[in-house]
Amino acid sequence: MIKYIGSKRALIPLILGVLDTIQRSGTEIRTALDPFTGSTRVAHSLKSRGIYVFAGDYLNFSYTLARALIAADARDYPPTLLNPILSELNALEGNPGWFTRIYSQEARFFQEKNARRIEAIRNYIEEHFSDSADLKAILLTSLILAADKVDSTTGVQMAYLKKWAPRSFNDLLLLYPPLLPGRGEAIWGDALHWVGQVEVDFAYIDPPYNSHSYLGNYHLWETLVLWDNPVVYGVARKRLDVRSKKSPFNSKRQAQEALKALLKNLRAKVTMVSFNNEGFLSLNQIVEMAKEMGFVVVIEKEHKRYIGSVIGVFNPKGEKVGEVSHTKNKEYLIVILQDSKVKRAIEERFVNVKAIQQSLF
Ligand SMILES: C[S@@+](CC[C@H](N)C(=O)[O-])C[C@H]1O[C@@H](n2cnc3c(N)ncnc32)[C@H](O)[C@@H]1O
Repeated sequence: MIKYIGSKRALIPLILGVLDTIQRSGTEIRTALDPFTGSTRVAHSLKSRGIYVFAGDYLNFSYTLARALIAADARDYPPTLLNPILSELNALEGNPGWFTRIYSQEARFFQEKNARRIEAIRNYIEEHFSDSADLKAILLTSLILAADKVDSTTGVQMAYLKKWAPRSFNDLLLLYPPLLPGRGEAIWGDALHWVGQVEVDFAYIDPPYNSHSYLGNYHLWETLVLWDNPVVYGVARKRLDVRSKKSPFNSKRQAQEALKALLKNLRAKVTMVSFNNEGFLSLNQIVEMAKEMGFVVVIEKEHKRYIGSVIGVFNPKGEKVGEVSHTKNKEYLIVILQDSKVKRAIEERFVNVKAIQQSLF
């Protein structure tokens, strides 16, 4: 999976543990919704449990990842079918054009040898696989995963490193992506507009909680998927639409109303809201919204922060412009249930829960 700020990799065992408890208490979980799917990690772990998953995002690259890793059925795209295509792509000669110029010369996100090959492979996918949407998404996913392994950033694309990252010297290599057997759904668009159309057993809600735009942080992946030679600006050569395509969840003024509207529209037996103590909203504000929907349990986990905060804050020239404040934050899972028995089962299994509950209710 790609490096993704706010990715819930470290929380997946806890999320699955809570789901286990819910299932063992008699609530069946056959379908799930992840409308802010990002890297698709959580959706992927749910699908790997045999759950039918609807995964969505308003960014095109995340939708593309979901189309490959959640919607497509691995049995339709076995290694015997994909590996020869990937070998063909890996063997293409580099073909420098606008992508190479912008992202390896004007900005140094990739070594030129890799940017040229990314460009050649992307052009080839467009020319040869545009008539098969799933296969195209799978090949683009393989390309994004390969490019992510040779980029020269700290994990976000707001800036590139002054000194080339050691991994950027490696050669780009497309591999068979982590497809899973079984189908699912990928949905593109603003979750506020579509969540009400899907009815599920379990909804996992993980919107952005601060002003950092995911489009700004991952503009290269959006460009790689759209392949639209966009107008770019600034040292990081961001797409111009980073300035205009805004999510209400990135706005301090709008975030509370947006989350309220989203929760109100959900049609799920069990809902889990992911949240940390560094966002616009307080834990109490979210719990107040959750209480209107059912029984609420809050689970807390200390979480090591994004590595960028540990190594410091740097400008695009690599100069240190800020200090590290702290290296740990708290992650919360706010679970909303319709059955008090299930609530008690979760409280019994997860340490910490009782103490937090008492301070909140
Ligand atoms: C915190 S990240 C999700 C991380 C994900 N759970 C993971 O583990 O990778 C939030 C995601 O919400 C998406 N997003 C922001 N506003 C949105 C909206 N209005 N509708 C749908 N997706 C949105 C962002 O593009 C981003 O991928």
